[in-house]
Amino acid sequence: MGSGGPDAGLSFGLGHPNMNEAGKAATGAPHWKDLREWLQIVEDRKLLRRIAAEVDPDEELAAITFMATRRKISPALMFERFAHNPLGARVLVNILGASRERYALAMGCDPEASIRDLVEATRRIMKRRIAPRLIDQADAPVNEIVWRGDDVDLTKFPVPKFWPLDGGPFIGTGCITFTADPVSGRINVGVYRQQLFGRNRVGLNFVPGRDGQFDCEAAWAKGQPCEVVSAFGIDPVLMMVGSQRFPRGESELDVAGGIMGRPVELTAAEYVSLPIPARAEIVIEGLVHPGDVEMEGPLGEFHGFYSGAASKKPVIEVKAVHMRRNPILTAALMATYPSCEIGEYQAIMRAARIFDNLDRIGIPGIRGVYCHPAAASANCLVVVSLTQMYPGHAAQALALTAQCPAATYYTKWIIAVDDDVDPTDFDAVMWAMSTRCNPADDLDVLRNTMSFRADPSLAPDAKPYGSKVLINACTPHRHLRQSPKRTHIRRSVYDRVVRRWPELDLPDRPPELGTLFEGD
Ligand SMILES: Cc1cc2nc3c(=O)[nH]c(=O)nc-3n(C[C@H](O)[C@H](O)[C@H](O)COP(=O)(O)O)c2cc1C
Repeated sequence: MGSGGPDAGLSFGLGHPNMNEAGKAATGAPHWKDLREWLQIVEDRKLLRRIAAEVDPDEELAAITFMATRRKISPALMFERFAHNPLGARVLVNILGASRERYALAMGCDPEASIRDLVEATRRIMKRRIAPRLIDQADAPVNEIVWRGDDVDLTKFPVPKFWPLDGGPFIGTGCITFTADPVSGRINVGVYRQQLFGRNRVGLNFVPGRDGQFDCEAAWAKGQPCEVVSAFGIDPVLMMVGSQRFPRGESELDVAGGIMGRPVELTAAEYVSLPIPARAEIVIEGLVHPGDVEMEGPLGEFHGFYSGAASKKPVIEVKAVHMRRNPILTAALMATYPSCEIGEYQAIMRAARIFDNLDRIGIPGIRGVYCHPAAASANCLVVVSLTQMYPGHAAQALALTAQCPAATYYTKWIIAVDDDVDPTDFDAVMWAMSTRCNPADDLDVLRNTMSFRADPSLAPDAKPYGSKVLINACTPHRHLRQSPKRTHIRRSVYDRVVRRWPELDLPDRPPELGTLFEGD
């Protein structure tokens, strides 16, 4: 779809549930029904760039993406032309990436909102639940083209190979995968990479402990293959929710519906008993048979290294494929920040979930949480800002943050700062570490903690056990009263300078200063 089309004239604002519930960050949220309509909004704001020149999906597409996204403010890229492309498919990359604006647009929030406000808004929005809705197969756009049985040929898509030493082309990086618990029937939504092995064979890579893996193993234990549905080119909300960890009993489809303010629309599949996303660009359905494995990987990953040696992984035998005309294959480049698809969305959503974990445990005085996206896709560094209320408060917040379910995986650095430090402002965090932290007193190390098996800092025989450093960069509690005063501008003088700003002929607007000197 070009600019214009059926999506033109989307209305902003009124009635979007996020507007009322998300506080400061949520003003003027647009409505959309699928990826194409969301892309129209993104394109109208000049946050999407179409590449009409012919591009090779074999490494060239990824190289262009990497080179075009070395700045934080980079557009989403839609590659529209390939030499071998019988389906007229497009490939969309850097969908959210490091973009705060595109994250806000996907969440129905104000794209101008600060990151701190977006964390708060995300906490509120993620608590909503709306169950999915089943629509008729004939009304599902994804059924414009359906391949069954021998018609299935995934090699007709321009499937990217990203990095020189990748194990092959990966069709599934920007996709979600459904599996079901054979007992409860609960549908799990996960994001698991998928290497393309042939016309109807796709790899499935589970990190141990994933819900999708539990569902597969439960089916195999009953002597049955596991039914799988994967969807590409979905509303970015589904991708974000699919990549977050939720308790097994909780429906990620209900969470996604809650964020979108409308039910996720599903329709019946052709072959499997799972439903399929009705408004996806491409859907594959298939079976994962026990013992059917192929050598998979490596893939250049989010931390800037390859994922390790190739190893045997389960395979999806693809039974049917559904797609829209000129389908959009979404692909997620895994690379160092800011070129990684797991960027600002992960920084904000992970922070929101850590904040919620701390709330649930009952730690008072937490003012903000942020996971810096440059720290290996927001995985390795968490900053918590708090109002110190009692001796040991900062140490307690640090230890519990380090081990709370939302933070424990791969996090290495946990930093506590006072409430006058914005945790999303890295310069301010560095200032607090430099002025309020005395390393001999204020550092603790936790050992044998959960890590990431491809962490290059771990000795091969130590993997996957890691460690975490707790950095107390708060004003030392034991001499809070004697600590030197910070320099702040007097409020009456600040107000006067704000009034005189135009007369002084200074650029932009006067900055908002968090703290001012209130005395006489
Ligand atoms: C682009 C992308 C690729 C990912 N690749 C994998 C993968 O190959 N294997 C895996 O286990 N997790 C992968 N993840 C992380 C999982 O999606 C995430 O942990 C999610 O919570 C898993 O869902 P589950 O908890 O329902 O199993 C990936 C995430 C993203 C955003």
